[in-house]
Amino acid sequence: MPESTTIRWEQNGDGVVTLVLDDPSQSANTMNAAFSASLEAVVDRLDAERDTIRGIVITSAKKTFFAGGDLRDLIRATPEHAEQAFEAGMRVKRQLRRLETLGKPVVAAINGAALGGGYEIALACHHRIALDAPGSKIGLPEVTLGLLPGGGGVVRTVRLLGIADALLKVLLQGTQYSPKRALDAGLIHEVAATPEEMLAAARAFIDSHPESVQPWDAKGYRIPGGTPSDRKFAANLPAFPANLTKQLNGAPYPAPRNILAAAVEGAQVDFDTAQVIEARYFTELVIGRTSKNMIQAFFFDMQAVNAGRSRPESVEARTVRKVAVLGAGMMGAGIAYSCARAGIDVVLKDVSLEAAARGKAHSARLLDKAVAKGRTTPEERAALLGRITPAADPAALAGSDAVIEAVFEDPQLKHTVFQEIQDIVAPDALLCSNTSTLPITLLAEGVKRAEDFVGLHFFSPVDKMPLVEIIKGERTGDEALARAFDLVRQIRKTPIVVNDSRGFFTSRVIGQFINEGVAMVGEGADPASVEQAAAQAGYPAKVLSLMDELTLTLPRKIRNESRRAVEEAGGVWPEHPAEAVIDRVIDEFGRTGRSGGAGFYDYADDGRRIRLWPGLREHFAKEGAGVPFEDMKERMLFAEALDAVRCLEENVITSVADANIGSILGIGFPAWTGGVLQYINGYEGGLPGFVSRARELQAAYGDRFAPPKLLIDKAARGETFLDVTGA
Ligand code: NAI
Repeated sequence: MPESTTIRWEQNGDGVVTLVLDDPSQSANTMNAAFSASLEAVVDRLDAERDTIRGIVITSAKKTFFAGGDLRDLIRATPEHAEQAFEAGMRVKRQLRRLETLGKPVVAAINGAALGGGYEIALACHHRIALDAPGSKIGLPEVTLGLLPGGGGVVRTVRLLGIADALLKVLLQGTQYSPKRALDAGLIHEVAATPEEMLAAARAFIDSHPESVQPWDAKGYRIPGGTPSDRKFAANLPAFPANLTKQLNGAPYPAPRNILAAAVEGAQVDFDTAQVIEARYFTELVIGRTSKNMIQAFFFDMQAVNAGRSRPESVEARTVRKVAVLGAGMMGAGIAYSCARAGIDVVLKDVSLEAAARGKAHSARLLDKAVAKGRTTPEERAALLGRITPAADPAALAGSDAVIEAVFEDPQLKHTVFQEIQDIVAPDALLCSNTSTLPITLLAEGVKRAEDFVGLHFFSPVDKMPLVEIIKGERTGDEALARAFDLVRQIRKTPIVVNDSRGFFTSRVIGQFINEGVAMVGEGADPASVEQAAAQAGYPAKVLSLMDELTLTLPRKIRNESRRAVEEAGGVWPEHPAEAVIDRVIDEFGRTGRSGGAGFYDYADDGRRIRLWPGLREHFAKEGAGVPFEDMKERMLFAEALDAVRCLEENVITSVADANIGSILGIGFPAWTGGVLQYINGYEGGLPGFVSRARELQAAYGDRFAPPKLLIDKAARGETFLDVTGA
C-alpha cells in the first residue's frame, strides 16, 4: 500500500475488515489523489485476501465521515485539464465499482456528515447506517456548487430511487438530509443512536448477508419507475426538461441541465456506460466558469466570512444569554424567533402587552408549520416558545446582555426607546439597531455608550434570510463589533461588516439593480422583456415586480432625504433616469406598488398579481426605441457590480468575500456569478474585458457605467478581486 495512505485497514481475525477513512494530512477526508491511490490499493488487497474476508465496514476517524471532492483542486481545473479531470473521476468510479461487486457485504457506518463524495462512497456499499449525531447531514449538494456528483452519485441514485425521485429528492436541489429524513427518503437503511449500536448493526448485516449484491446488479433488476424506453415513462419524460427550463427561467446554470442529461441518458444504458456518461458531464462542468464562481463564493468566501476575517481579532468571544428585542412588528417578531431558536432567552417588548404577544404569535405560527412538516417536535416547539417573554414594561429587560431595536423607522422614536432602557439592561449590554436607512453614527448620539452601539441589519423574512449586515458607526468600538459578529454567528446567520454610509452596502447596491430596470422602461423598452432579462441574468426576483414589493414611495422617500443631505453638504445629486419614471407612475397614475393595489403590475383585490400594467407600454414605449436584450441583462449586472467596486473604493466595505456573500445572500445577485465582485473576475476577458464593456455601456447609456479608478488600476496591474484563495 502507498505510504501516504488515507484509508486504514483494521482486522480482528473474525473475517470483518474495517476500512477507516483517516487522511493524516488534513482535518477532513477528501477525494484527493492520495485517497484514490489508497482506495485502489485497498480494493486490490480485499480482492487478494477475499477467501479470508467475510465482510467490510467503511467508517471514518474524523468528525465528518467524508467531505467530498477537494475543492482546492476542483477550482483549478481549466479546459486544459479536461482529460485529467475525466480520468481522475473514472479512477475512483472503477474502484467503487470493484468494491460493490466483490461478492462480499460492504456496510457504510456513517459516523458524521456524508455529503457529496461521502455519500457516493456510501452508495457503493450494500448497506448504509447513519449515526444520529448533530451535524450529520446526508446528500449530494454538488449542484449548489455548479457541479454534479461525479463519483457514481448520479448513476446510483437513479438506480436506487428511479429517475424522478433521484432528480427531485437528491440531485437537482442538492438537499441535505438529517439521518432520520434520509431514512424516510430511502437514502439510507438504518439510523443508529450510538457508535456502538452502529457497529453492531453493521456486523449483524454482514452476518445475515454473506453474499451481498447491489439491487442494480441483481437478476431481473429494473430501474424503479421505469426508463425512457418504457412507453408509459416516455410519455411523462418531456415534462422534465420543460419544468427545468421553467424553473431556471433561462438563467445560465449549466449543472441542472447536465444532471438531467446524465440521469436520463445513463438510465438507458448499462452501469459502466452510465458511469462514463456521468464522467463526461461532470468534466464539462468542472472545467467551466460557473462551478469556479460558485465554489469561490460558497466555499472560499463563505469560509473567510465565517472565520471572521472582518471581526476584530483581539476581542474574546462571548455568548449572549438574554436579548431584549424592542418592537414586536414584522422584523422584531422574526428576530425574536431567530434568537430563541438558537437557545437565547428573549424579552420581546412593544408598546402594549397585546402588541408584544402578537409578535410572539409569529413564532408560534412558524413552529406550527415546522411541526406539521416534521422539521421539529412539539417539545422543541414548546421549549422555543418558552424562551420568548412578551413585555410592555421596560423593567422586564433587566439583565439583558444585548438589545436589538426594531421599532418604527423614526430617529426620534429610536432615541426615546434607547433612553428608556439603557439603564435597565446589563451595564455593558451590546446596543444594536435594525434600522434600514438611518445613519448608525447619528443614532449612537442618543445613547450614553456610543462605543457599544452598532447596526444589525436583518433581512425580511428574518427566519429565512441568512444574512445580517453589521454596520460600524464612527464611534462603534472593536469590542461591540466583535460581539455583534459573535451574536450573528450564535443565531446561525452569516455576518458581513459594513462601514456606516447611506444605504449601507446591500440596499445601496440593490438600488442600482432596481433603478436600471426602471430606467429601461423609461427609455421605451418593452417591460415584459425587462422582466425576462432579469430572469435570464439569473436574478431570483424580476426587477419590476421587486420594485412593486418594496413600494415605489419608499425609494422616493429615501432618495429625497439623501438628495437633501447631499445638497446641504454643497454637493450635486447624481440624477438617475429611473427617478422621473417612478415619479410619473406615482404622481400621474397614482400607482405605488403592491401594497397600494397597483404599481408596475395590476393586482386583484386579494393581492394576487394579474399582469404587467398595460399603461407602461402605452405611456412609456417609444417608437423605434428598444434596448438590445444582451444589454438589458448586462446593464443590471454591471450597475450592481460597478457600485460594489465604488463601495470598496469608498471603504463602505473592506472585504471582497463580504461583498460577494452579501450580494448573493442578501440581495439576490445571481449565484452563478459567485457574487458581485467575482462576476467581474469571471467576466470574459477578465478585468480588462469588464472595463472595456463598462466603457461601451457608458457611451451608450450614461456615466453611471464609468469604470471606477480602483477597477481600472487593478485591470492595468493584472490583478483581480480574488483575494481569498489567490487561485
Ligand atoms: P413594523 O411597523 O412592523 O414594527 C414596528 C413595531 O415597533 C410595532 O409593533 C410598534 O408597535 C413598535 N413600537 C413602536 N414604538 C415602540 C416603543 N416605544 N417601544 C416598543 N415598540 C414600539 O416595522 P418593521 O418592518 O418591523 O421595521 C422595524 C425596523 O426594522 C425599522 O427600523 C425598519 O426600517 C427596519 N427594517 C425593516 C425591514 C423590512 O423589510 N420591513 C428590513 C430591515 C430593517
